[in-house]
Amino acid sequence: MTSRNQAEVTQTVILPQSRDALFITLGFKKGGEQAALEALSSLSSLTNGVGFRYPKAHLTAVAGIGATMWDRLFALDKPEHLHEFVELHGAKHHAPSTPGDLFFHIRSDEFDVAFELARRINAIVEDHIDYHDEVHAFQYQDFRDPLGFVDGTESPRDQEGVEVAIIRDGIWRGGSYIVEQKYVHNLKDWNTLPVEEQEQVIGRTKHSDIELDEKAPNSHVAVNQVEDEDGNGLEIVRNNLSFGDALGKQGTFFMSYARDPRVTEVMLRRMFIGEPEGNYDRILDFSEALTGCNFFAPPRVFLDHCADYAHAHLRPDKDPQPNQPAINLPQGKAVFPDRSDVPTSHNAEDVEAARARYEGALRRQQ
Ligand code: HEM
Repeated sequence: MTSRNQAEVTQTVILPQSRDALFITLGFKKGGEQAALEALSSLSSLTNGVGFRYPKAHLTAVAGIGATMWDRLFALDKPEHLHEFVELHGAKHHAPSTPGDLFFHIRSDEFDVAFELARRINAIVEDHIDYHDEVHAFQYQDFRDPLGFVDGTESPRDQEGVEVAIIRDGIWRGGSYIVEQKYVHNLKDWNTLPVEEQEQVIGRTKHSDIELDEKAPNSHVAVNQVEDEDGNGLEIVRNNLSFGDALGKQGTFFMSYARDPRVTEVMLRRMFIGEPEGNYDRILDFSEALTGCNFFAPPRVFLDHCADYAHAHLRPDKDPQPNQPAINLPQGKAVFPDRSDVPTSHNAEDVEAARARYEGALRRQQ
């Protein structure tokens, strides 16, 4: 893919860290499918509309779609690695799988501009959601997480980031897989550790951010340095930022893009279960995962016209669904509303027609 049509086909996935971000996860009620399609297909124009007045804010937004929602919305088959987050139970630590139909990664160097975009998305979805998780995350000091360590140093950037995060071939070229988890830290316990001990937990020095030559095998860095069978390093693009209250709980929002989410899943298994089993990531003794969700960030060419690939009953000119009040479920609880009666059946003709429409749109981009 050339860089020209890369920019046209892909959402704004690979960018330098912004000062602020809003991470928004939404669950949609039955009947909320059209609102979801509208939020997705209007994201580019909403972002441009808010962003052009504040060019210094560098406002961008990426939308992700969860596996169950994909089946509710689209006639096209899911991207092959899109599935719900697999809950992990290690000997000591637990990675929950939590609800998430759509995800918005809104980045800006000025928080009020990100906030304005989020309000506009909310105006579309508010009567149709029964779950939301909104995290205002920010760049803390010189890219440090609340544990005091620089976070993101080894994450691939620029063209290297594109190689790692953006799908190169096939119908979903230009797309990317998202895995996110919201972690809250136990800073009281963490702050009792001497700095040398904290460095052993992470695997890098705290102040100068240099990788330790002699790392503990259960240090965060050692656990996350993953190789394939031929010894090649496997990587993901991370966009972690800090969040929380100065007087209350503080944490790290882990947010990753990968062209193959199995890499992220291997990292998660190594963190929570351990390789060998029991060698879990020591960072987990100080950080608890409250959420866990997977999404697919479709290519922009799909996103902007996604209603064209929706199930026939959701395609334009159908009656709008009735509005219902939103109910905000407690954050971080794995409460999956029952959506079993939402129609998701795939009719072979619809699938074929949607695929032909999308392949046509892709060809016109080239
Ligand atoms: C509590 C949540 C987390 C915190 C505070 C955290 C923090 C850090 C820090 C401070 C580093 C070292 C500097 C750097 O290269 O970025 C790092 C590296 C890394 N982390 Fe995390 N991280 C968290 C969760 C995760 C998760 C869930 C994954 C994967 C599923 C992950 C994957 C990685 C990888 C791949 C590296 C680079 C290792 C290397 O090649 O040196 N992290 N993280």
